[in-house]
Amino acid sequence: MQKSDMLNHARTVLRDNDRGTYTVPTHGLYPFQWNWDSALSALGFSHFDEARAWTEIDTLMAHQWDDGMVPHIIFHEPDDGYFPGPDVWGTDRPTPTSGITQPPVAGFAVRRIHDRATDRDLADRMARTLVPKIHAWHQWFYRCRDPQGTGLVALLHPWESGRDNSADWDEAFARVPTDGVGTFTRRDTTHANPAHRPTDDQYKRYIWLVQKFRSLDWDNRKLHDASPFQVVDPGFNAILIRSCADLADLAEVLNLPDIATQSRALADKALAAMDTLWSDAAGQYLCLDRRLGALVPSLSIGGILAAFAPLPLNRVQALSARIETLAQSCTYLVPSHDPTTPEFEGLRYWRGPVWLIVNYMIADGLIRAGEGAMAERIMQDCARLIVKSGFAEYHDPITAEPCGGAHFTWTAAMIIEIFSTRDLVS
Ligand code: DGY
Repeated sequence: MQKSDMLNHARTVLRDNDRGTYTVPTHGLYPFQWNWDSALSALGFSHFDEARAWTEIDTLMAHQWDDGMVPHIIFHEPDDGYFPGPDVWGTDRPTPTSGITQPPVAGFAVRRIHDRATDRDLADRMARTLVPKIHAWHQWFYRCRDPQGTGLVALLHPWESGRDNSADWDEAFARVPTDGVGTFTRRDTTHANPAHRPTDDQYKRYIWLVQKFRSLDWDNRKLHDASPFQVVDPGFNAILIRSCADLADLAEVLNLPDIATQSRALADKALAAMDTLWSDAAGQYLCLDRRLGALVPSLSIGGILAAFAPLPLNRVQALSARIETLAQSCTYLVPSHDPTTPEFEGLRYWRGPVWLIVNYMIADGLIRAGEGAMAERIMQDCARLIVKSGFAEYHDPITAEPCGGAHFTWTAAMIIEIFSTRDLVS
């Protein structure tokens, strides 16, 4: 496939999933606006329609809660093809939203889009509007998800991680009860192969947590301590740190010194705390189960995605070596779970498949640390997957089988982002 064919195809995916002011991840399976999908999709739009890229993030931030939280789903239009819908969340918003958040990649995306914008007036205007809102979201994280001031934030629901059914959560999730959940009908398994999705048992626990938080009126001053699930994810924290650091840089450029100083302080404190998640034995970062006060010995991509943060270079170089080890047990980098472990499932969502968005963020971090060869290899694998199996939501790291939803927005956005800057396909 020619590079131009691939880019044209990717743009068609974005246009087909464009609903005017926001983009759905894919038709059917995900019929609303998702938080980190939007921020990463905006990167793709920015290469051929800068105004549309800004609108994507502007729409997302328009639904920020008064306390600073930015929800993980915005239910712009009714659609009963998705469960759990607004009636289950019960967040009582003018436009219904979920009540939990998602990886805060918007700060990184806004800085990157601003840096390379050709319409400088529009970029400055939009960045000036968005930076204070994103900063309020970052402050919300450290206030509400790190009440003890450790420097690292906890996830209260696996859906917040974006890595919904990762093996990282198995032990902590087993402590989430299922009593009182009642019966419900999943819709995801009517759009996607059930073998590619989380299990029914996991869904019951997902819904138990939603009901628990709803019973507390979605009051973020109470949710952290009340949740039986409190997991500190290195990948999630790395995204937050990177966004804080990028926001600090952007705020300096925009002459917003208070935001610059505060964002830098948040990033620096968190960076120092990240080292408590490092495991020499694993050769990567690990999750912390905050309820138990113990690291989780689960070899997932969350501990490798940490490379996205401005970590000490020796740590990122060690992560590159860890990826080299993973390459010996798969065909396409980077598997979302170590293929040599019993938890690995090549087709099941975040228990093995490759996700282009994570590859992109890891590669970005590797380049900063002088690991360009490994970054290039990862991006080559992204290209090989798409050539072989199309713009799927995720792919089996051994067979390249396309999994989950098809015609997927952020997969296409990553191809545009990667291919607009390098020559990978001939
Ligand atoms: C889903 O519905 O699969 C999402 O990942 C939850 O946000």
